[in-house]
Amino acid sequence: MRSLLGGDGSRPLRQQLSLTLALVFSGSILVAILLLDQLFGWQAKDLINQRSGFFMDTMLAVREYTSKEVNPVVAPLNQGPGAFRPEAVPSYSATTVFEYLRGAKPDYKQYSYREATLNPTNLKDKADTFEAGVVESFRSSPTQKVITGERSTPLGSFHYVARPIRVSGESCLACHSTPDRAPRSQLLAYGDTNGFGWKLDEIVGAQIVSVPQDTVFQAKRQSLMATVLLLALVFVVVALVTNSVLNRLILRPMRLISQKAEEASVTPTSVSFTEKSRMDEIGHLAKSFERMKQSLAISMQMLKDRQKP
Ligand code: HEC
Repeated sequence: MRSLLGGDGSRPLRQQLSLTLALVFSGSILVAILLLDQLFGWQAKDLINQRSGFFMDTMLAVREYTSKEVNPVVAPLNQGPGAFRPEAVPSYSATTVFEYLRGAKPDYKQYSYREATLNPTNLKDKADTFEAGVVESFRSSPTQKVITGERSTPLGSFHYVARPIRVSGESCLACHSTPDRAPRSQLLAYGDTNGFGWKLDEIVGAQIVSVPQDTVFQAKRQSLMATVLLLALVFVVVALVTNSVLNRLILRPMRLISQKAEEASVTPTSVSFTEKSRMDEIGHLAKSFERMKQSLAISMQMLKDRQKP
């Protein structure tokens, strides 16, 4: 372990330090990637859930607005001789508002809102195979309020949220039970074969919103990349600074002291360990050498004196 971390003295200090830094940095980057991937993944999921939740709630609000405020005004017109006014129908207003929304920004092109129905009045609401599966799930467990999931299509991957559409009141049956109860204008507009035979409390379809997730996950990957690059950059800067500090504080003075020590071993009096004025460990080392140099000089002098006749 010690040799792995570069502290065993088998290489120059600079290499030992670089090895330690490289190991610590690559370890931290690896851990950071794993943790951030999780964290950014949760954030992306959260964003997708928020978007789909907001989308669904908006559509529910449009439906409610139509039932409560538009229908009472427009519905009487549908009893008269004029053409059928679909503006009175919550399902029509929700799908129409959504079409306007889709047209508002290219980003929204991939969103979808459906009132997928097994036996619809308007055939564009006919459930496809996937949607029919969702509706059947609601029909087989009527207490279920919402189904969410992911779906891969040739256009990309989508997150969907579905809620059951229930025939909630007698009022619905006026237009969805038998053709003879429906306004004539409705029969003229939609025919008398689709969207009838619904029962009270029956689940006839599902509201399904889907929001694209690929762009969100792509943004997540980009954030992860950017963060890792930034971390790597910080590490490179730290490594460069550490290296230069090591060089200035330790390596250079040590090289000088060792040169002087070598010189002092031959001619002690000609050398001065000027670093002894420093207050740090290098200063201590220089002081020790200075004392050793003086002892050496004295010993040499004594030897010389003894050799004199
Ligand atoms: C005045 C007649 C009328 C009443 C009342 C009515 N609907 Fe409809 N409903 C329609 C028509 C017409 C459409 C087709 C609208 C369109 O063109 O999108 C429709 C569409 C729907 C759709 C979309 C699927 C489809 O059939 O095209 C659902 C779901 C739906 N209605 C449910 C209900 C429920 C639930 C109620 C009662 C709360 C209700 N409707 C009351 C006439 C009515």
